[in-house]
Amino acid sequence: MQLFLDTTDVAVLKDLAATGLVDGVTTNPTLIAQSGRPMLEVIAEICGVVEGPVSAEVAAIETEAMLAEGRKLAAIAPNVVVKVPLTRAGLGAVVEFTREGIQTNVTLCFSAAQALMAAKAGATFVSPFIGRLDDHGADGMSLIHDIRTIYDNYDFDTEILAASIRTSAHVTAAAIAGADCATIPPATFLSLFKHPLTDKGLDQFLSDWAKTGQSIL
Ligand code: E4P
Repeated sequence: MQLFLDTTDVAVLKDLAATGLVDGVTTNPTLIAQSGRPMLEVIAEICGVVEGPVSAEVAAIETEAMLAEGRKLAAIAPNVVVKVPLTRAGLGAVVEFTREGIQTNVTLCFSAAQALMAAKAGATFVSPFIGRLDDHGADGMSLIHDIRTIYDNYDFDTEILAASIRTSAHVTAAAIAGADCATIPPATFLSLFKHPLTDKGLDQFLSDWAKTGQSIL
């Protein structure tokens, strides 16, 4: 499973990328606004930190304008993935981006029917929003299961990118459901390393080791 960071905080990204476990980055207009920085500058900087896919989202809502914005974003670096909303106009842009060899991430996916249309349009990634579906009273994870079944039934190449992740349990459930990738906020990424029994066990081992008076080196 590929693990992406959902962030525009370059300092945090550099720190977590140093783990060697970050496969890519996703951004969205909200995260760009939170950075307080020019979008093109932030995306270029992120692309210099990670070699994997970096999603940069268009702001336009009409196909032609999305195509113009997407081509500009794709020209920033070879690992830019153009993020497009799951609308009729957005999928029209995805069909053209696919013809042009530009990678796409279709975002704001909330149903299996939408995911089917994204795959037919040739999307590189589709982003089902798990947390927002849960917030809405639905079962976000069942959407991942349904999309996995549909994509496997028809051998679609579109990768399932579990998004709107809130907890480490979301990440593991998405992995069990067969998501190809998950995009994770930095705090949740850090929580993936942790378990209280690991801390407790390590304390005990260190204490017992100190009693031996030994040194390995
Ligand atoms: C995904 O690409 C989005 O940027 C992100 O996962 C949205 O998460 P949120 O619902 O926590 O805003």
